[in-house]
Amino acid sequence: MRYTTTLVSTLTLLASLVSPIAAQSAAQQPVSVDCTDSSTFQGFVNALLTVLHYSNNLAFEEVIAEWSETEAGYEVLEGVWTAVSQREDWTLLVPTDAALTSAGLTAPYTNNQDLYSILTYHILPLALPSYNTFNASAHYIAETIAPITATSDVGADLVLQMGKTDGQISVVALKGESTITGEIGKGDQAGALGGLTLMSVDAVLPVPASLPEVLITLAKATTEASSSGLALYTTALNNSKVLNTLTNLNISNAKGLTVFAPADVAFSGNQASTSAAAWLKVLAGHYTSSQTLYSSGFTASAKLFMSSANAVTFVTNSSGTYVVSSDASKGSAKIIRSDILLQGGGVLHVVDRLLASTVLESTNSTAGGSTSNAATGGTLASSAMLSYASGNSLLAVVACIGMAAIGFSI
Ligand SMILES: *[C@@H]1O[C@H](CO)[C@@H](O)[C@H](O)[C@H]1NC(C)=O
Ligand SMILES: *[C@@H]1O[C@H](CO)[C@@H](O)[C@H](O)[C@H]1NC(C)=O
Ligand SMILES: *[C@@H]1O[C@H](CO)[C@@H](O)[C@H](O)[C@H]1NC(C)=O
Ligand SMILES: *[C@@H]1O[C@H](CO)[C@@H](O)[C@H](O)[C@H]1NC(C)=O
Ligand SMILES: *[C@@H]1O[C@H](CO)[C@@H](O)[C@H](O)[C@H]1NC(C)=O
Repeated sequence: MRYTTTLVSTLTLLASLVSPIAAQSAAQQPVSVDCTDSSTFQGFVNALLTVLHYSNNLAFEEVIAEWSETEAGYEVLEGVWTAVSQREDWTLLVPTDAALTSAGLTAPYTNNQDLYSILTYHILPLALPSYNTFNASAHYIAETIAPITATSDVGADLVLQMGKTDGQISVVALKGESTITGEIGKGDQAGALGGLTLMSVDAVLPVPASLPEVLITLAKATTEASSSGLALYTTALNNSKVLNTLTNLNISNAKGLTVFAPADVAFSGNQASTSAAAWLKVLAGHYTSSQTLYSSGFTASAKLFMSSANAVTFVTNSSGTYVVSSDASKGSAKIIRSDILLQGGGVLHVVDRLLASTVLESTNSTAGGSTSNAATGGTLASSAMLSYASGNSLLAVVACIGMAAIGFSI
C-alpha cells in the first residue's frame, strides 16, 4: 500500500517534533509499516489502521491511510490524536465496505473533492450516549467536527434516535435513516487509541443539505404523501425571493436558522397565488435567524421570536408537539417532522398549519406593503432554549504541516 513508504517517511520526519508520551507499538500489522520507531501519533495511526484491518473494514482502512497522506487529513487525524491521547472521549463512525461502495466512494478516495467534509462529519468530539439512555422517538443532537462553513469552527450536527433493533442507534437524515450497528473492539490497540471509540455504521452519512435541496426533496414527497409535501411553501419562498435570503444565511452572518415550513395541508384556497408582498410577511413569520432550535429545545419554557416578530411557544401532549403562535388567529400547528438539518447550521421543521397569515387571509394583493423586516433576525427571548451548535476547540494542530508536506512529495 502507498501508505507504507509515504506515511512512515512523513512520520520519521515528524518524530522529533512530536513529544513521545506513551509510545505504543502495534502488535499486529495489517500493512508493512515499520513501527519500531514509533512516535505517539504514529502509534495512534498504526493502531487505528490495525483495528480497521482486523475488523474487516478494509475500505475505510484504505480511506484513513490515503487521507493521512494529505495535509488536511493529517491535520484532522493529529487533532483527534491530540484530544484522545489526553483521554478525551471521541467517536469515529466507520462506514462499512458495503456502505462506501454504495455511496460511490472508491479508491483512490482522496480524488473525491468532498472527502474532507464527508470524513469530518464522521468524527464526533464526544462519546455517544448509550442505547439505554435514549428516550423513545426523541432526537439526540450530536456535534461533529465538520465545519458548517469553510471558515467556521462550529461543527455540523447529527440527529440520532433509538434504533429499531435493540442496542442500535439510528442516524436520521433528510432521505432516511442509517444505523450505528455497534462498537468495533479495539483489542490490544486500546492503549494507543486513548479515548477514541470506533462505531460501525451501515451508510456513509449524508452531510446536511442546502435549503433548496431540502425543499426540492420534500416538495417531491407531495406525490407520495399528499399531506407532507412542501410544494406550496417552496413556490411561495421562491417567488418572493425569501429562498435566496434564507439560503444565503449562515452562522457567519446569523446566529442560526430555524424554519417552520408549512406543509401543503396548511394552505387553503388560493393562498399560494397571493401577492409576493403579502407572502413576504407571512413567510417572515415562519423563520428566525436568531438561533437554531432543535426539537430537544421545544420545552414549555421556550419562546422563539420569528423574523416578523410574532413569537412561538411549544406544547407537548399525548397527540404530539405543537408550535403555538402569538398570532391569535392561528392557534397551534402540529410538528409533523422535526430536525431536518440545513447546510450552514440551520434546522427545518415541518408543521401542518400556518403560524402567521392574518394579512394574507384578510386582504388581497394590496396588502403587506411593509416588507423591510422580512430578512432581519428576530429577538432572542431570554427564556429560549438553546440547542444551538456550540463552538468547539478541536483540530488543535501541532506545527507539523510544513513537515508533513515534505513527506507528501515522496
Ligand atoms: C432522555 O431524557 C432525559 C430527560 O429529559 C435527558 O436527560 C436525556 O439526556 C435524554 N437522553 C438522550 C439520549 O437524549
Ligand atoms: C426557484 O425558481 C427557479 C426559477 O424558476 C427554479 O429554477 C428553481 O428550481 C426553484 N427552486 C426551488 C427550490 O423550487
Ligand atoms: C456566509 O455568509 C457570508 C457573509 O454574508 C458570505 O460571504 C458567505 O459566502 C456565506 N457562506 C456560505 C457557505 O453561504
Ligand atoms: C394538544 O395540544 C394542542 C395545542 O394546544 C391541542 O390543539 C390538542 O388538542 C391537544 N391534544 C390533546 C390530546 O390534548
Ligand atoms: C380579492 O379580490 C378579488 C377580486 O380582485 C375578490 O373577488 C375577492 O373577494 C377578494 N378577496 C378578499 C379576501 O378580499
